[in-house]
Amino acid sequence: MFQLAPSLLSADFWNLEASVREALAGGATVLHIDIMDGHFVPNLTMGPVITAALKGKTEAVLDVHLMVDDPDFYAESFAKAGADWISYHVEAAVHPHRVCGKIQELGCKAGIAINPGTPISSLEAMIEQVDFVLLMSVNPGFSGQSFIGATFKRLQELRSMIERTGSRAFIQVDGGVGPQNIADLRRGGVEVAVAGSSVFSKPSPREAAKQLISLAEGADDR
Ligand code: DX5
Ligand code: ZN
Repeated sequence: MFQLAPSLLSADFWNLEASVREALAGGATVLHIDIMDGHFVPNLTMGPVITAALKGKTEAVLDVHLMVDDPDFYAESFAKAGADWISYHVEAAVHPHRVCGKIQELGCKAGIAINPGTPISSLEAMIEQVDFVLLMSVNPGFSGQSFIGATFKRLQELRSMIERTGSRAFIQVDGGVGPQNIADLRRGGVEVAVAGSSVFSKPSPREAAKQLISLAEGADDR
């Protein structure tokens, strides 16, 4: 099943509730929450308080993307704040199995995120333990960046690793996703697509989400 995950980083913070409602009305089922610590990436965003504010308000999955140097330290506070899924970067985790186990013990799905410049082979040691892989299609830090084309080849490589190892992990892609590439990503095996500016920077986030979902689902029929 395909799921669209609008990234709240591009939402209207003056009126976050309206933004979220719009995206959900357009068919989104996952809310992507970008956490940046100013070290792992050159930007600062939000802490667990935003996750806690959303918890229980909608049916949507709360999907926390930790772009932080110390996921081992921060994962727990986001799980307690109500995250359903938590992803952390393979480039940041010194003890990735420990972080993954901790997230799962806290009752969340654990995802391993990977930057565009990191070899897919570095996921090998984790692929059988994680619930999902977040394949970055931009260098993380900001919304509104251009999709890196080499992602398609990496997606193929990741898919073969998942098939070869019998991993249950699903694939999420994040960065520069829009109407121009979402169908191809879906054909390539993406199950969850994050979309920030291509949803929230449009005149109608609801219509934008609807269009992205129908493009992705259209790819299933062919
Ligand atoms: C990038 C974040 C993304 C980003 C997506 O560092 O992890 O989730 O906000 O925004 P768009 O879809 O505009 O690239
Ligand atoms: Zn993200």
